[in-house]
Amino acid sequence: MVLRISTDRALPPGPRRPSPAQLHAWITEPERLYASCRRRFGPTFTLRLFGQPPKVFVSDPADVRAVFRGSDEVLHAGRANAVVEPIVGSTSILVLDGSPHRVQRRVLAPLFRGRAVQPALGDLVALCERAVADLPRGEAFALLPHAQALTLRIILAALLGVRQGPELDALYDRTDALMRIAGHPLLLVPPARRRLGSLTPWARFDDHQQALRADLAERFARARVEPDRTDLLARIVHAGGEGGPERDVELADAVLTLLVAGHETSATGLAWAMHHLAHHPGEQERLRADLRAAFGDGPVDVATLAEIPRLTAIIYETLRLTPPLTQVGRILAAPFEVGGYSLPAGVGVVPCIWLAHRDPAQWPEPERFLPERFLPLERPDPSAWFPFGGGARRCLGESFAMHELRAALAVLVLRCRVQPAGAPSRARRRGVVLAPGDGVRLRIAD
Ligand code: HEM
Repeated sequence: MVLRISTDRALPPGPRRPSPAQLHAWITEPERLYASCRRRFGPTFTLRLFGQPPKVFVSDPADVRAVFRGSDEVLHAGRANAVVEPIVGSTSILVLDGSPHRVQRRVLAPLFRGRAVQPALGDLVALCERAVADLPRGEAFALLPHAQALTLRIILAALLGVRQGPELDALYDRTDALMRIAGHPLLLVPPARRRLGSLTPWARFDDHQQALRADLAERFARARVEPDRTDLLARIVHAGGEGGPERDVELADAVLTLLVAGHETSATGLAWAMHHLAHHPGEQERLRADLRAAFGDGPVDVATLAEIPRLTAIIYETLRLTPPLTQVGRILAAPFEVGGYSLPAGVGVVPCIWLAHRDPAQWPEPERFLPERFLPLERPDPSAWFPFGGGARRCLGESFAMHELRAALAVLVLRCRVQPAGAPSRARRRGVVLAPGDGVRLRIAD
């Protein structure tokens, strides 16, 4: 194979439109942009998005594998995520690279691995039952806001060890306000991150964030003298050893990171899953039958849910066809070879989830929702299916997210028969996620 040495002008081909127009298309019509680039230039192409380094997109499994197996000293995800630093703090695992990132991962990863996360999920099923009981009956409604409220309550309860009730409701109100402002596009523009009066988005964000950090500092102090707690906050406090106020800043960065990383993504996944089940009543019926066989009229439990293959296959297929995050980013700290190109330092490399998940060579009839393709259940190939990213930066919350999606879907499908209340939703960018534009309009039939 001939290796092409890339200067900025000799990167893989890509659209010639000016970079502001490419950025506009990437924000407003990402699916169309991805598909047209794949058609015109093949699986490896370059996008030039205004204000950012050139980004080389890859989706061929061999190239995705090369990126995920590459050295974390060369492929920097923290630099690619820098835009979220004002929200999650400068010591967040999301924005660190190399050895500081590895240190954070060593602290956090064991809390999320396999069964380790289950003790923190105590109220998961009860929270799902309450959210489903509160859904409107007999009228059309958008599911996404309900899914967002549920996943925020779930992650708050698991993180802070707060049971369902008034304390969780108060925490929810404060955090929900913070998350809503955090999604304001102006916060992504550095010059707008100033306190110009008390009503600017940054000032409101800053006020809410300070209040939450003060609340967290009290919780850290309490957790230090309560060694037997199973919530994630207490386990993070004990995993990292002693420390003063500086350590509280780091702990709060970790908690804020998990809130931000683990709420909108899961809500979007849940909304898309219900979208698919509403538009595929046969799949919904088969899932209901499997759930009834497992639970009868009894309560739902997290461990049994993990043993129902069809439920997991439906989630895998949802995350394949409608991945909440459509791409993951790395910035090269040194030259790197991929897709037959030798790319220089400073360039971005982007494994494109959306394109890889629609590759007809890997996924026959890629546009169809076919959960059966994952049955009998096996772990999908990590270079062809990677809604949770991969390699040294693979999502820490994957197991947590799978538990919450299983519980929320199971309770919804067991307690209601869901029908679409309109045409299938079209995907729209909402901050970093690609969400159903109309929020998934549904009606509960019975
Ligand atoms: C369906 C739900 C979710 C999806 C689709 C998702 C997807 C992702 C993706 C694509 C990444 C980037 C991986 C990479 O760069 O290779 C990521 C990172 C991360 N996610 Fe998730 N995520 C979900 C839920 C969660 C939850 C529930 C939590 C926490 C409880 C969480 C915590 C994190 C953290 C901490 C990282 C950063 C890992 C690192 O940089 O080392 N995620 N996630």
